[in-house]
Amino acid sequence: MPVHVGIIMDGNGRWARSRRLKRIEGHKAAETSIRETVRYCGEAGIGYLTLYAFSTENWKRPKSEVAFIMALLKRFIRRNIDELDGNGVRLRAIGRLHDLPKGPLEVLRGAMERTVSNDGLNLILALSYGGRAELVDAARKIAGKAARGEILPEDIDESTISGHLYLPDVPDPDMIIRTSGERRLSNFLLWQSAYSELYFTEVLWPDFRKEHLHRAIEDYGRRKRRFGGIG
Ligand code: FPP
Repeated sequence: MPVHVGIIMDGNGRWARSRRLKRIEGHKAAETSIRETVRYCGEAGIGYLTLYAFSTENWKRPKSEVAFIMALLKRFIRRNIDELDGNGVRLRAIGRLHDLPKGPLEVLRGAMERTVSNDGLNLILALSYGGRAELVDAARKIAGKAARGEILPEDIDESTISGHLYLPDVPDPDMIIRTSGERRLSNFLLWQSAYSELYFTEVLWPDFRKEHLHRAIEDYGRRKRRFGGIG
């Protein structure tokens, strides 16, 4: 059983287009997939679920689509927070959160504070997130410490980098799932994915259901993880 699962929720736009709907309808339909995935992970005892909801590059999309996704984020949290909290889910986030509009950011912060002492599933939303941006932000924090004489350059090691990422207490993802047939990481958890098992499925995110997640987790169970050793 994986401890940490990351998901690149891709294919909302194509799902909508294939139904002759507007792209935003695909984002709307994503909510059911998110709810099923969260419920499955909670019931299966998975510790951490990170969902790639909005990348540092997604700001390049048409203004109207960005605004829609941000409004959806706020609505999603408002509509689901009671159930999440009731099920012991702790809501967290990674990314350049200060880039988010005020309304969604306030709702997000409120939900994170409300669930901070929950000890069930950690649901981590990657928002205005980029793996490179995360490493840049970590480098800035470490360089600041070095400039103040709090750390020596020769003492910087891998654990220093890991310790300055957005959520240093979260273990690396055991498995990363990407929907919709694309086979790339697209700047998701670059440092943390060094030894992650990658799982790709043709299923578009709005069609993703618990049986698809179950299949992915079964596949993970058959993988031999060697972490560079000989097993
Ligand atoms: C990928 O599909 C999806 C996104 C970039 C946005 C995902 C956002 C949500 C599911 C809603 C907001 C988040 C939460 C947590 C409620 P795509 O648009 O790239 O699809 P395409 O590749 O088919 O165009």
